[in-house]
Amino acid sequence: MISKSEIQRHLTASIPLYVFDIIDSTNSFAKKLEEDFALVVADCQSSGRGRLGREFYSPKGSGIYFTLKVKNENLYQNVPFITTLASVAVHQAVKTLCNTDCGIKWVNDIYINNKKVSGILCEIVDETHAVIGIGINFYKSALPENLKNIATSLFDDTSPVTREELIAYVADNLFRLLSKLPDTSFMEYYKSNSIVLGKKVLCITGEQSFEATATDITPQGALVVQAADGMRTLSSGEITLRFS
Ligand code: BTN
Repeated sequence: MISKSEIQRHLTASIPLYVFDIIDSTNSFAKKLEEDFALVVADCQSSGRGRLGREFYSPKGSGIYFTLKVKNENLYQNVPFITTLASVAVHQAVKTLCNTDCGIKWVNDIYINNKKVSGILCEIVDETHAVIGIGINFYKSALPENLKNIATSLFDDTSPVTREELIAYVADNLFRLLSKLPDTSFMEYYKSNSIVLGKKVLCITGEQSFEATATDITPQGALVVQAADGMRTLSSGEITLRFS
């Protein structure tokens, strides 16, 4: 179970807080809310959603699943930054609060030892509202076959911090970074904690896939790669790291 009062005890931001034992998806719920700002948390999701229409495995008791609904007057200009800023907020929290070494895989996954520990799904609600959905594998759980070799967790079965503390810490971090926009100095942190720069990657953009070396991240958060036929800049899509 996730304790609402424990989140509230640690949270600095004063916003409506919804906590569920189970919900279809915290992003789907947050998108329907009337409020400009809200935090939606669940102990389990029956239809957790990932990027590119994928499912996000969300078992009970071991993970963190939450969504921050935010209002931003310059949403369209800020969308690329909201995505990268969210990974900076999670990375800083995992490093500082959980004292665990991790890296950011473009565009906004958090990795520990070459395995994914957290994923982020940002969705636009309307001209001025967005939801930022964050999933973190907190404790070890029995993973389905397709995730066994690619996912990991922050802790095994005990932890020096609680799930509630981490949720509050990340949410406050998100607010802090969002309130500084259009200051995007967090991009320096993003770049210096990237695990893709200098690495061989498989790029998948729509129907196309090609091998390349990741060389840079633009100030807007796009990935610059050196492919066989020249430099390309990817503003969306997906990459797979070639760990070898
Ligand atoms: C990804 O890795 O593809 C993104 C995963 C995002 C998962 C989170 S869990 C909380 C929120 N609710 C959802 O349905 N998805 C996001």
